[in-house]
Amino acid sequence: MLDLTASNPTQCGFTYDGAGILAALGDRAALVYDPEPRGMLRAREAVCAYYAARGAAVDPQQIFLTTGTSEAYSWLFRLLCDAGDEVLIAQPSYPLFDFLAQIEDVRLVAYPLVYDHGWQIDFAGLRERITARTKAIAVVHPNNPTGHYTKAAERRELERICAEHGLALVVDEVFLDSFAEGESPLCGHNDSAEGKSFAVGEQPCLTFVLSGISKIAALPQMKVAWILAMGPEGERRAALDRLEVVADTFLSMNAPVQCALPVWLAGCGTVQKLIRARTRGNLQNLDQILLRNLPVTRLEVEAGWYAVLRVPALERDEDLAVRLLEERGVYVHPGSFFGFGGAGWLVVSLLTSEEEFRRGMEEVCAEFGAR
Ligand SMILES: Cc1ncc(COP(=O)(O)O)c(C=O)c1O
Repeated sequence: MLDLTASNPTQCGFTYDGAGILAALGDRAALVYDPEPRGMLRAREAVCAYYAARGAAVDPQQIFLTTGTSEAYSWLFRLLCDAGDEVLIAQPSYPLFDFLAQIEDVRLVAYPLVYDHGWQIDFAGLRERITARTKAIAVVHPNNPTGHYTKAAERRELERICAEHGLALVVDEVFLDSFAEGESPLCGHNDSAEGKSFAVGEQPCLTFVLSGISKIAALPQMKVAWILAMGPEGERRAALDRLEVVADTFLSMNAPVQCALPVWLAGCGTVQKLIRARTRGNLQNLDQILLRNLPVTRLEVEAGWYAVLRVPALERDEDLAVRLLEERGVYVHPGSFFGFGGAGWLVVSLLTSEEEFRRGMEEVCAEFGAR
């Protein structure tokens, strides 16, 4: 089988500094249990250093460590919502959000993204979906699987809407670093200013920035992520106080990974380079294959680990994906998995090894008439 859905970086053939990663877990400070709801100070200071290197001044007091971005969502849903309250989330986007919300009795309401030579938020559509029960707007920056950044003007508009309606802004930045220094490698005309964290600059509304090492250090098995609480002083302080109660209830972080976090974050640039080389290489190979005048095109990719393919809309995406698997041994995601409307969308992972990706894409394209 040719697996074009690979999203687990630990199984994609990247060379990690295995000895260094494991040695960091051996810190003797981990032998002492000294629970701190926000997480160990030195681990949070390492998170601050990560943001300082990206132009954002963050205080360790604004940070809560969690065992994953998923847990961070769960805590925020509990913090911001009563049962039945609503959170707006872009569509297409990452399918796990539905489960995370349902488990917390929160209703996700999809606001549309539109594509026309690049993705953008349909703000009219977003505003129409705000109700008395809406508590937050979530944005994935850059988004999964569309791989587009929230542009600076869109950030301002989101902040304006949140301030106007008293909503919190939840910004998932797990893929923030998935572009090359200076400019996006994946699409020639991305302004690097667009790739900035929402932690940079002023936050005029209550803002929670989420990230973690599952993507930025390609270490999903180590289970470390964080919430940055930002925004106007009063609201931020109230949110921090209440989050502390949630965090103190679980104390879910273990000591060894917190001791290791500074080392892992300091070293994350190396694996990021390998991943960027992989995603760029696969995208170049994909473009070579698509030069053959096929009825298959790809959408622009600014960042992230995926490419979205537009294919003839002859059948339901899911039927096509099953057929590609059964008849050609190629495993791809149907667009509907991520909430693409209508037929004719496939999503492929750019993390797949180059040879497997090329062979897989040859098979997908052969399905539509050429090899
Ligand atoms: C956009 C996005 N947010 C969050 C997550 C979950 O990350 P974590 O491993 O930190 O829970 C993923 C995982 O793929 C993701 O794609």
